Amino acid sequence: MKILVMHGPNLNLLGTREPEIYGRTTLAGIDRDLALLADRFGVELESFQSNHEGELIDRLQACVGNTDGIILNPAAYTHTSIAIRDCLAAIQIPTIEVHLSNIHAREEFRHRSMTAPVVMGQICGLGALGYTLAFHALIEDFAKRGL
Ligand code: DQA
Repeated sequence: MKILVMHGPNLNLLGTREPEIYGRTTLAGIDRDLALLADRFGVELESFQSNHEGELIDRLQACVGNTDGIILNPAAYTHTSIAIRDCLAAIQIPTIEVHLSNIHAREEFRHRSMTAPVVMGQICGLGALGYTLAFHALIEDFAKRGL
């Protein structure tokens, strides 16, 4: 079983980036916690961050045939990227969308997610805990799929 954790633009700055909104946990901290969980559940886990839309799409396309689930925070591309949405629709790999902040309680332009309609579910507003919950949701889904 393999999970890809994908982080979009500016999430490499977590820890120092607007901590009152995104918290003080660093991206390395989030990835470390997920790696520990993956070890416990015997799941292979890879983390990938990019500030570039095309790189995110290339990495998602490369998941076909080798990745069973995706945890995705598309960051600002959530609200703009038809290309990432089309890619998720094309690859058909169960994906959980995660946002650290509650995008529905923020500026109007953050309320709409281009990607939400093509993912299994969305978790937002729970900070770094959202990634842990997304991991468990994928584990449940693997069991349902008999993986
Ligand atoms: C975010 C929310 C987005 O609106 C924002 O552009 C981000 C981070 C979050 O995790 O809360 O970069 O996806």
